[in-house]
Amino acid sequence: MVDRLATKCGPLELANPVLAASGTFGYGDSFERFWPLETLGGFVTKTLFLAPRDGNPAPRIAETSAGMLNSIGLANVGWEAFVREKAPRVNALRGSARMLVNIAGNSPEEFGEIAARVEADREAVGCDAIEVNVSCPNVKEGGTNIGCHPGQFRDAVARVRAATTLPMFVKLSPNVADVVPFARAAAEEGAEGVSLINTLYGMQIDTELRRPVLGTGSGGLSGPAILPVGVHWVYKVRAALPELPIFGIGGISTWQAALQYLMAGADAVQVGTASFVDPNACREVLAGLDRWCAMRNTSIGEIVGAAHRVGERAEEPVWTG
Ligand SMILES: Cc1cc2nc3c(=O)[nH]c(=O)nc-3n(C[C@H](O)[C@H](O)[C@H](O)COP(=O)(O)O)c2cc1C
Repeated sequence: MVDRLATKCGPLELANPVLAASGTFGYGDSFERFWPLETLGGFVTKTLFLAPRDGNPAPRIAETSAGMLNSIGLANVGWEAFVREKAPRVNALRGSARMLVNIAGNSPEEFGEIAARVEADREAVGCDAIEVNVSCPNVKEGGTNIGCHPGQFRDAVARVRAATTLPMFVKLSPNVADVVPFARAAAEEGAEGVSLINTLYGMQIDTELRRPVLGTGSGGLSGPAILPVGVHWVYKVRAALPELPIFGIGGISTWQAALQYLMAGADAVQVGTASFVDPNACREVLAGLDRWCAMRNTSIGEIVGAAHRVGERAEEPVWTG
């Protein structure tokens, strides 16, 4: 019998297509009092740097009309503490759920350094893949965002590839004019797949105080507001690079939203901000997908990319609005 929820994202076999997104699920150990970790297809750790980081000044989160802004600043425990204190416990809990370790650095060189440490510790950590978060500033070169700079982007991805044989997924920034060339560059540099999207730049002003709400001024917008943006880029990347595996991310708080991503071409999805609103969000999304597939006697494998197979289109619709 076909398991209707089982899917693959590149080399990663997943019991189901629902993962928890980086930065919204701790190190895999934050939700255990709500439901078993092994329920998930997988989870992505908070971004890890080699050294611990405190992150940005408060306030670091703000609620918006259809989502949230955050400027956490990649606060994390650092690689060694993760290996020593977090990974063993999470490994004992995760069952078949895949563990993706999300990594970053402040320069392309630092990306290579942390990837080498992950490779060295991979047995102890038990991770199944790396997710490379390129949404951080290159401190050596004036703070430009590595994920928005084609040269630094390639350099960082190539250094991770050279340092490890673990499956590598590159998490792309939507803060560029076109995400597709970055997805192509990731594939050319040896990535097994891409994760898209990360947060969009945004700002909220406190009109009483006459200043930005967040301590850093701007932050990253996430939640339902960004759902159509993520679906758009997944669709575009799938159309341009049909063989490249994709994790679809951005604004998924319902199973219907997850279905949109899968039909747009994501092989699996990651749920982020929704878990802050409802700690059961991942589980609810999964249960809804299961019910939908059962009612229609179909499977996740059958619906991935379905929106690309609607009749025969002479050419792709062009947005002119
Ligand atoms: C509070 C917060 C912290 C985040 N931290 C990270 C992080 O450390 N690394 C990363 O790659 N993405 C991080 N993200 C981005 C999410 O993983 C996800 O890509 C984004 O929020 C869009 O999905 P969503 O709308 O479901 O939240 C963070 C998002 C939020 C809201």
